Amino acid sequence: MVSVRKLIAGNWKMNGLSNQIVEAVTVAEDLARNPPKVRVAICPPTILVHRIAERLARTIVEVGAQDLHGEAAGAFTGDTSGEMLHDAGARVVIIGHSERRSLHYEDDAVVSGKVNAALRAGLEPIICVGERLDHREAGQALEVVSHQLMHSLPMSLDGRAFVVAYEPVWAIGTGLTPTLEEIANMHRAIRDLLVERFSNGAARPILYGGSVKPSNAQDILHTQDVDGALVGGASLLAKDFLPIIRAAE
Ligand code: PGA
Repeated sequence: MVSVRKLIAGNWKMNGLSNQIVEAVTVAEDLARNPPKVRVAICPPTILVHRIAERLARTIVEVGAQDLHGEAAGAFTGDTSGEMLHDAGARVVIIGHSERRSLHYEDDAVVSGKVNAALRAGLEPIICVGERLDHREAGQALEVVSHQLMHSLPMSLDGRAFVVAYEPVWAIGTGLTPTLEEIANMHRAIRDLLVERFSNGAARPILYGGSVKPSNAQDILHTQDVDGALVGGASLLAKDFLPIIRAAE
């Protein structure tokens, strides 16, 4: 059996001013005292990437971004390229989060283009997929997620480092989570699809995301085929994020 190194990634979304940087530093300092076996990443708002990357240099905590533009440079007012994020110190990037898919109308083709842009810039993509509640209630969750995977993951990922995050849209920020059995079934299906399509598909981490918190992290992170978590709200404070990281071990 291929062993997959777990990843706990924090997605701060559009939260955090300068005074939030201390939370990332606190996480890194705590982990330095007792290094975890898992990888840890923090994805702050773009404007904080550079400052946090400087503070976390030479720590085990990686810094990531939450989105990128598909082009390296050009007339794209307000956008940020993967090359710029890399230059600022980011090493991973979340792509196709459901909030980008719904609020910014990013479809699978856009997501796939951004994945290529991340690879070009030397960023490891964390590609998000997940069904809405109406899909799950109609028994279409597997079908919807498989379709997203087929069209959001370009073949250029073959042999490259990448991460898939399964985030049921209805579980994000709601306090609701699927049952452990539902999570295991979905992760197994994602694993099968990755193995079928990519030569390194057996070794790519598959994260669960959606209302992960200290109280449910232990169960979720020890569910079959769950290789870590993408954590939103509970990644904002070191006192919540650290127990989730420790629960992954
Ligand atoms: P949540 O968000 O942990 O606040 O539910 C997860 C995410 O959207 O990545």
